[in-house]
Amino acid sequence: MKVSVITAAALYTIAAVAAPSAHNLGGWRGNGRDRDCKKGLDTLPFNFTSKYSVRATPDQVVNGTTFTGGLPGTSGVYDLGLNSQSNFLCWYIEIKGFRGEYSSPALTATHIHQSPRGQSGPPRIAFPNPIPIDNNTRVSVGCQQGPFRTGILANGVDTGLAFNVGQIEANPAGFDVDVHSSLALPGAIRGQIA
Ligand SMILES: *[C@@H]1O[C@H](CO)[C@@H](O)[C@H](O)[C@H]1NC(C)=O
Ligand SMILES: *[C@@H]1O[C@H](CO)[C@@H](O)[C@H](O)[C@H]1NC(C)=O
Ligand SMILES: *[C@@H]1O[C@H](CO)[C@@H](O)[C@H](O)[C@H]1NC(C)=O
Repeated sequence: MKVSVITAAALYTIAAVAAPSAHNLGGWRGNGRDRDCKKGLDTLPFNFTSKYSVRATPDQVVNGTTFTGGLPGTSGVYDLGLNSQSNFLCWYIEIKGFRGEYSSPALTATHIHQSPRGQSGPPRIAFPNPIPIDNNTRVSVGCQQGPFRTGILANGVDTGLAFNVGQIEANPAGFDVDVHSSLALPGAIRGQIA
């Protein structure tokens, strides 16, 4: 697994020195909401075959097929850029109002799971947990290339190992993003990719 994690502080530095649009290589485009952070991703020599912006909310969280209500007051936006030819993804995740500790048996508590709306399913991607940039906002940004690792085993095999991001493009409704808290173990927030 190749992981490139850009810290929030480094990103703001990149944003401060980057000339507008100077780094758009046909990949990530900012949408205004996230200020200039994504210019950091635009410097990567990389083309996305798809992009998603997913809003994650407490009401979408389930344990099995039971809605739990998640962690009230928490919300998030997960912006994803995928390249299914090179099995590569980049992300900009911003969550607000998170409480408790990150908690998950996986390598991290911030995931893409393979699960349709209203159902639990195995993690396929473990993102670095978002880090605080102010007292209400946490951010994770970076890129990973497969083979992926989640730290969760199914039949002795990591649930990320055989995953290709092209599976999301083939069926975005079959995948969701989430983050788990010690105060809401099944998930604080969740968002269906489509
Ligand atoms: C990205 O795509 C553009 C347009 O298809 C192409 O000109 C460019 O060479 C590609 N860049 C890389 C690094 O693959
Ligand atoms: C969070 O930051 C805001 C503005 O920066 C401040 O007004 C507020 O009191 C802070 N809240 C806490 C709980 O520290
Ligand atoms: C999910 O529900 C099952 C069955 O009710 C329960 O045993 C389990 O502890 C729950 N999991 C979490 C993480 O709350």
